[in-house]
Amino acid sequence: MSKKILFVIAGPRLKGASAFAARTAAEGAGQAGADVEIVELPKLTHIQSMGCISCMRCQISREYRCALNDDLARLVARFPEFDVIVFSTPVFFFSMPAQIKGLIDRTFSLVKNVGGQVATPLANVQLALIVTSGGGREDSGVQTIYDAFRYYQEYANLKPLKYLYFGNTPDDPARFAADSQAKAQAHSFGLTLAR
Ligand SMILES: Cc1cc2nc3c(=O)[nH]c(=O)nc-3n(C[C@H](O)[C@H](O)[C@H](O)COP(=O)(O)O)c2cc1C
Repeated sequence: MSKKILFVIAGPRLKGASAFAARTAAEGAGQAGADVEIVELPKLTHIQSMGCISCMRCQISREYRCALNDDLARLVARFPEFDVIVFSTPVFFFSMPAQIKGLIDRTFSLVKNVGGQVATPLANVQLALIVTSGGGREDSGVQTIYDAFRYYQEYANLKPLKYLYFGNTPDDPARFAADSQAKAQAHSFGLTLAR
């Protein structure tokens, strides 16, 4: 059966390097037979706060659903439907941009502590991460993003994280898009996700 893969373009530039890498990977996954959906995070509505407001209503509820009534909550509630969820993001100030942090914090509604054990409908969902940065692997801060996702994966006992990184990306995203090696890497990452 074909895999259902969600690509979340999390960076604010919808024509940026991380968006290009995500779209290219999505193309590869689609060509490998996956059922692909792309969501552009900057277009989604959010209320009060982009992230979690710590109301704890999701923890009290029997449902795995964020209590806020906005696009972010509706997207997160759909996460368990997918075989793979790919988050694609740039590095901002040695960490992840606020937009994706907000989305990840909302997944508190999917990771509940029940009697000291984590209960989650994400157990069969493969998480994947695509990161682009202006600096390199050692000095960009990419490790901070990778570590945050890896801690999450370990805490919630999820499948091992799949990961693709592009460092030293040019300021002009059109130059990144013209890099045939980067394009091939993103495409083949998509193929791998679909298997
Ligand atoms: C506000 C801001 C902060 C940034 N901070 C970093 C950083 O800490 N480390 C780094 O390597 N690159 C940093 N960059 C560069 C971006 O990570 C890099 O250009 C990335 O490829 C942009 O992806 P995009 O084209 O998808 O927006 C920053 C860019 C912006 C706009």
